[in-house]
Amino acid sequence: PRVVRIGLLGLGTVGAGVVKSLKSNHQPIFEKTGCDVQVVRTLVRDPDKERAVRMDRDTLTTDGLAIVRDPAIDIVIEVIGGIEPARTLIREALRHGKHVISANKELIAKDEGVLIEYAEKNGLRLMYEASVGGGIPIVRMVETYLTANRVHAIRGILNGTCNYILTRMEEDGQSFAEALRDAQALGYAEADPESDVEGFDTAYKLSILANLAFSVPSSVFKIDRMGITKLQRVDLDIASRMGCTIKLIGEARVSEDGTVAQSVSPRMIPRTDSLATVRDVFNAVTITADVVGELSFMGRGAGELPTASAIIEDLTEILRNPTPNGRRDQDRRIVKQGEG
Ligand code: NDP
Ligand code: HSE
Repeated sequence: PRVVRIGLLGLGTVGAGVVKSLKSNHQPIFEKTGCDVQVVRTLVRDPDKERAVRMDRDTLTTDGLAIVRDPAIDIVIEVIGGIEPARTLIREALRHGKHVISANKELIAKDEGVLIEYAEKNGLRLMYEASVGGGIPIVRMVETYLTANRVHAIRGILNGTCNYILTRMEEDGQSFAEALRDAQALGYAEADPESDVEGFDTAYKLSILANLAFSVPSSVFKIDRMGITKLQRVDLDIASRMGCTIKLIGEARVSEDGTVAQSVSPRMIPRTDSLATVRDVFNAVTITADVVGELSFMGRGAGELPTASAIIEDLTEILRNPTPNGRRDQDRRIVKQGEG
């Protein structure tokens, strides 16, 4: 078998999920790709910390550059989060000819395509399925499907932590603080949960999808945003008496003149709306396009295993097809050819 050596940046919730899943599903991955995938080096902040997975101490390092520059490593998986050192490490991995997989929605959204373009120019893949919707294969769907369509709107629940908090407040009468603590213990929340509860995380994901789906660019810095921190139990009770529930909704629409309107805010959702049935850590996204109409997707939006699933799907895609081929890449090339 072909041995594929992975450099893993980060061994927290998601990193541990990747290690566990590569181990538990080594055989099916091998059968489908013909590759023996091995995590050979892992970046952490504290190599002596107690871990959810057992790793050989010698494979742990605090030197990320040594991993991304190591000629023995084929593919880098970035699950440390944040802008730096993640951006530098990804760029350096690409500079050293390695494909990269990242779950980092903040970086992918704020980077506005620079790293993706750098990867494409170098014939490499930078994949980020796990950055949106946890285990839901929404990035690949929007990127490679819907060629026959113009997408008009994206609407959905894109943050598992907020949906979990709202569900627990509504169904169990938990306080916001208690429900957030549980979401953190379950590994759903960001290292700084303000990103979840103030709506930033939803905005990053919305912008990633909008940039893939719409023919006009969308900026994460132009999204109207409100989180769920000001919501109280009484708001949920009032909504309930009106036959509604409250969900944090991200919505992006492109109008006929090409203007993109994007927002993240808590909204009253009638119980008859399918989004009202999306509970706990689940996410749901509806895409509206001119030919196909509405398409909806639902699944676990956070947590170690659903996220690991998305990362490993990216990995197997790279093993099968190492050439950049996303629709975004093709569209960009076509536009450039037209310009030239
Ligand atoms: P964690 O905080 O659980 O893990 C982060 C890991 O990265 C830790 O192992 C930490 O080391 C390491 N790390 C962080 N900063 C540095 C640094 N500067 N140098 C070296 N190592 C570092 O985060 P998650 O696993 O929850 O999330 C990781 C990424 O995945 C984020 O981008 C997040 O947004 C994204 N994501 C998370 C999901 C989830 O459900 N949790 C779902 C989808 C995406 P140490 O352990 O030593 O502290
Ligand atoms: N903190 C994020 C969430 C992780 O709760 O949705 C998944 O992207």
